[in-house]
This record gives sequence, structure tokens and C-alpha cells, in this order.
Amino acid sequence: MVNPMDLTGKKILVTGAASGIGSETAAQLSRLGATVVMLDISEEGLSRTMAMLEGEGHSQYVCNLKDVEGVEPLMKKIAAEQGIFHGIAHCAGIAPMRPFNMTKYENVLEVMQVNFFSFVEIVRCLTKKNFAEGGSIVAMSSIASIHGKQTKLAYSASKAAMDSAIRCMICDLAKKKIRINSLMPSWVNTRMYQIYVDRYPDTTELRDVREKQYMGVSEPIEVANTIAFLLSDATKTITGTSILMDGGISQG
Ligand SMILES: NC(=O)c1ccc[n+]([C@@H]2O[C@H](COP(=O)([O-])OP(=O)(O)OC[C@H]3O[C@@H](n4cnc5c(N)ncnc54)[C@H](O)[C@@H]3O)[C@@H](O)[C@H]2O)c1
Repeated sequence: MVNPMDLTGKKILVTGAASGIGSETAAQLSRLGATVVMLDISEEGLSRTMAMLEGEGHSQYVCNLKDVEGVEPLMKKIAAEQGIFHGIAHCAGIAPMRPFNMTKYENVLEVMQVNFFSFVEIVRCLTKKNFAEGGSIVAMSSIASIHGKQTKLAYSASKAAMDSAIRCMICDLAKKKIRINSLMPSWVNTRMYQIYVDRYPDTTELRDVREKQYMGVSEPIEVANTIAFLLSDATKTITGTSILMDGGISQG
């Protein structure tokens, strides 16, 4: 049987692989035949994900992406140990909520460091010499990139920065036959979502999600499958795109 999403023989870096979307993505990519190199701040979470992977040859690296200057030496170490990559699934991210009048420079800086600056560094460093022709990069953006919410200034700005950076990268990456895209989900049923639901069970945002996210809250496996689709050769001409995965909420 032909599987257009077959990833056999591909080596893929998954950031944020210790939980949620990143963990589910690492597991699904391994089921599709990929060798997965995982990166996260949580060693414990990485080991949990490692136990879920199919196949052999996977590895894990612990790092704090807030240390943007540490990304280049880390990528050099990973490249030296792992060789050529065929894909990146960038799922690491933080989503703190803060009222605007309490959103200081240092708060915005931290979110930009983890969600955006490190992303640019990872792509820049790994695509220099250690990426195969025909490779593909997928980054987790969010519907927050295009829809503002009162308490999400830093988060929204970091995702909008990511999406616009991707559109600036496509030309240089295309010269090496590398594609880059992002996904913009509304709420996905992970720890990030559960924390929000527990803290603010009856916000307008959650009421809207219940009423207007017509296809429901996404499950991590649905996001993982879309990432796999974009990493696979089934989508060889898709680049510079940010795909909405919002269950219809932005249209309704
Ligand atoms: N869950 C949602 O509803 C939702 C919606 C839209 C977009 N997203 C995006 O999807 C991505 C994954 O979200 P999730 O819901 O799986 O969240 P999650 O909190 O379950 O996973 C995020 C991962 O990033 C890692 N991480 C956080 N800070 C780090 C740092 N400084 N260095 C290294 N690793 C770090 C965490 O340890 C964790 O494993 C995020 O970029 C998020 O913005 C999530």
C-alpha cells in the first residue's frame, strides 16, 4: 500500500518534544518511519516521549531555548553528532498571559526569546550545511498570530513574528530546495489548554470556543498529522504558508 506520508529514512528534529503537540508529533513521526531527534527543557518529559517512540536510533537533547546565544553551539553539537537532517518540527513554546499594563519589556523579551529568536537561530544554523535537499520545516504558530486577545500581547507578537519571518526565509531556503511553513491552530487539547480552562473556566474566549469552534478543540494527534503531512514529500511545493487549524472559529 502506498503511504504518501511515509517518512522512512528521514531524520527530523522535534523541539518541545517533552509534552503536548511536540510529544505527539515525535511519536507519530516515528510511527511513519522517521528517526527523531528531540529537544526540550524537560529531561523527564523527553524520557517519557522516548518511551513512546517506535523504531530505533532516536535521541534527545536537553536545553533552555531562552538562552538564544546557546542555540548556535547546541546546533553545531547536534549537527556533528547527528549528521544531515530532512526536517524540523518546531513545537517548543510558552504562552504566559498578562494584562497589558503589567506587560513589561522583560516579559515580552522572554516570550520572544523562547518562541521566536531561538526558532530563527535553529533554522539558520541547521540549514547552513546540515539539511538535505527536499527537506521541510514546520513551525507551531497560532491563530493568535492574526487574532489579538487582551492578555496575549507577547504571545501573539511572537507568533506573528514567526509567520512573517517564515515568509522572508522562503527564498533563501528554496535555493537549497528546503520548504518552510507554519500551523495556526486555535485551542488544542494539551497542558497549555487545560491550564487555561482550569484558571479561567468561563471567559468569553472559551465560550466562543465552545460555540464557534465548530469542529471542536483539536487533539494533539490531529496537529501531529498535519505536521507530518507538511514534512512529507506529499507537499513538495507548499512553502511560505501558514495553515489555519481553527475548527472554523475565525470565520463564524
Ligand atoms: N495548545 C494549544 O491550544 C496551542 C494552540 C496554538 C498553538 N500552540 C503552540 O503549539 C506549541 C506546543 O504547545 P503545547 O500545547 O504542546 O504546549 P506544551 O506546554 O504542552 O509544550 C510546550 C513544550 O515546549 C517546551 N519548552 C517550553 N519552554 C522551553 C524552553 N525555554 N526551552 C526548551 N523547551 C521549552 C516545554 O517543556 C514543552 O515540552 C507551542 O508553540 C504553542 O504556542 C498551542
